[in-house]
Amino acid sequence: MPAPVASDSPSAAVPAAVPAAVPAAVPAAVPAAVPAAVPAAVPAAAGAVPRHVAIIMDGNGRWARRRGLPRPAGHQAGMGAVRAVVEAALDAGVEVLSLFAFSQENWQRPPLEVRALMTLLEEYIAREIRDLAERRVRVRIIGDRARLRGGALRAVERVEAETARATAAGARLRLNLFISYGARAELVHAARALAEEVAAGRLAPEAIDEAAFAARLFTADAPDPDLLIRTSGEQRLSNFLLWQVAYAELVISPVLWPDFGGDDLRAALAEYAGRERRYGRVGR
Ligand code: FPP
Repeated sequence: MPAPVASDSPSAAVPAAVPAAVPAAVPAAVPAAVPAAVPAAVPAAAGAVPRHVAIIMDGNGRWARRRGLPRPAGHQAGMGAVRAVVEAALDAGVEVLSLFAFSQENWQRPPLEVRALMTLLEEYIAREIRDLAERRVRVRIIGDRARLRGGALRAVERVEAETARATAAGARLRLNLFISYGARAELVHAARALAEEVAAGRLAPEAIDEAAFAARLFTADAPDPDLLIRTSGEQRLSNFLLWQVAYAELVISPVLWPDFGGDDLRAALAEYAGRERRYGRVGR
């Protein structure tokens, strides 16, 4: 019997059973050039816009509970916040926006809530696809898509294909939606890919370094997040991008996700701009 799951994140505490399936969102080809894990010089964030912003969207359930509404109503309201944040990210000149929408552990939520979230995903895509394409936003769904069914699966394939076409000459923003995603599963997938290449004689063990590992992650074609935001005041990583956020600046916002808007994103960007990124070295 599955253990009860905390309902406080796209997270959940420790899953009773981690799904065995290997996530299917593997990049078709491993990009040749992989950025070094640590930049050669120490860039101060001062005044800078982060290239990649990642967000753990949290607090939908509490938002609904405070209003005496069912949890799915909080997710529905959270969809509005996604739209506001995409718009603010475009205006600010962010290159990559990664949103944690549904974790592998979230499959253990009540079936009604899981169904509501999958329906919302379809609804979001149906409602936004044209606008995203017109604004040259390229959407990718990252996670174990083998677990998606019917309408949700068709919707993610359609939004990826249409926004890929619309941004063939270059995207203004790359929007990564993490659905059925878990960082540990992604790390295991990368380790297995390396092991298979070594076993097949295509890769020497000595050639395995940080860049080679990063090149086998689902995010291999994007820079690591510079800024990680979590809403609703919770202070956890919840199995999100564990490798990639090694040097990300963290901003914890007390705002519940459905209330998070463009001003809140701009406040987080301003906080980031005031940080000094040292990558373990001494400050200026
Ligand atoms: C965490 O809040 C949020 C989620 C598990 C789902 C996030 C989904 C959306 C924002 C809406 C749909 C988005 C897209 C991209 C279609 P929680 O339920 O854990 O809240 P709680 O901690 O207050 O219980």
